[in-house]
Amino acid sequence: MLTEHDAQNTEINESVAVINDTVKRGSALIQQLLTVARKTGGAELESVNLNILVEGLLPLIRETFPKTIELSCALQSDLPAIMADKNHIEQALLNLCVNARDAMPNGGRLTFKTQSVDGAALQHVSETIAGRYVCLEVSDAGVGIDKSIRERIFEPFFTTKDKGQGTGLGLSVVYGVVKNHGGFVDVESKPMAGTSFRLYFPSAPFEVIAKEPAVETATETTSIPNGAGTVLLAEDEASMLRLLEKLFLRRGYKILKATNGQAALDIYQQHKEEIDVVLLDIGLPKISGRDLLLKIRTENPDVRVIVTSGYIEPAMKSELDQARVEFLHKPYTPDDVFKTLRRLTETAS
Ligand SMILES: Nc1ncnc2c1ncn2[C@@H]1O[C@H](COP(=O)(O)OP(=O)(O)OP(=O)(O)O)[C@@H](O)[C@H]1O
Ligand SMILES: [Mg+2]
Repeated sequence: MLTEHDAQNTEINESVAVINDTVKRGSALIQQLLTVARKTGGAELESVNLNILVEGLLPLIRETFPKTIELSCALQSDLPAIMADKNHIEQALLNLCVNARDAMPNGGRLTFKTQSVDGAALQHVSETIAGRYVCLEVSDAGVGIDKSIRERIFEPFFTTKDKGQGTGLGLSVVYGVVKNHGGFVDVESKPMAGTSFRLYFPSAPFEVIAKEPAVETATETTSIPNGAGTVLLAEDEASMLRLLEKLFLRRGYKILKATNGQAALDIYQQHKEEIDVVLLDIGLPKISGRDLLLKIRTENPDVRVIVTSGYIEPAMKSELDQARVEFLHKPYTPDDVFKTLRRLTETAS
């Protein structure tokens, strides 16, 4: 909002860039902590083809990594599936990629390799192995890992990076995720010649047909026109509520606001004719966001709702998807809000 206010002011823009960067780092850190803290439950496991997962991540890496880093892939074509929590594996893979990037400040090759291996051939890595494994390898041509720290790299908060650069959680997340999947990790590194991390996952017990990857719909990047209408904001954090209020007023919306679920429900019941959209936080006091959603849906089955949260359980997320409710992940930008809003009004009309 500050940059919108005074777009030409470089001093403000620089400060805002620092704030944005800090928020992003903070939210990435929380994401890591949640990945460590939350064990993979059986319900979230699905059949995952690691080749598809790697290929899905390539565009993001190509876009965000320096151009001096060259990507190459050697993916085994008929790779068996694994039973996995896709989000966790993606997080682990991303952590390895970021480490590889940091290890190659002057550029170099980042290689992804997948292959199916027989457990019997892996005795040197882990003692108790039988059956088939799928190996996902991420290699870089970077600085390598010195013998003296080799034992410590998987420790939470162990880092050799400068303050503010690394939290030392990347590899402990990788380790935790792989363990949760019944797998193990192997590292090979030569100082100044590069490092390979190999993640081994047990193959799925039977041939399951991997789900087709979801096709990403292109998101609009053009500026979003001002809207008209009334939005009910249900948010218990006072500063957040004030911010949302400003945001919507500026875009020409009318707003109604509530700081708990019960108040939001009361307001909805009184004003349901005029309310076009409800934006609610999932963690509301008195009546939870989820219950509020159910209650206003019984009032009006066609109500348009945006649910926001900093963290959402996968089971809850699929419940929302099924109910065709838009979800907005905190922290979000004003643009995110209006893109979501537009998606909501387009699909509803
Ligand atoms: N590919 C690599 N090449 C060289 N050193 C590595 C590599 N991967 C990890 N390391 C070393 O292991 C340390 C721990 O890695 P880890 O990913 O856990 O934390 P970090 O990268 O320092 O911080 P964070 O991932 O939380 O931002 C790193 O600081 C680095 O010294
Ligand atoms: Mg790291």
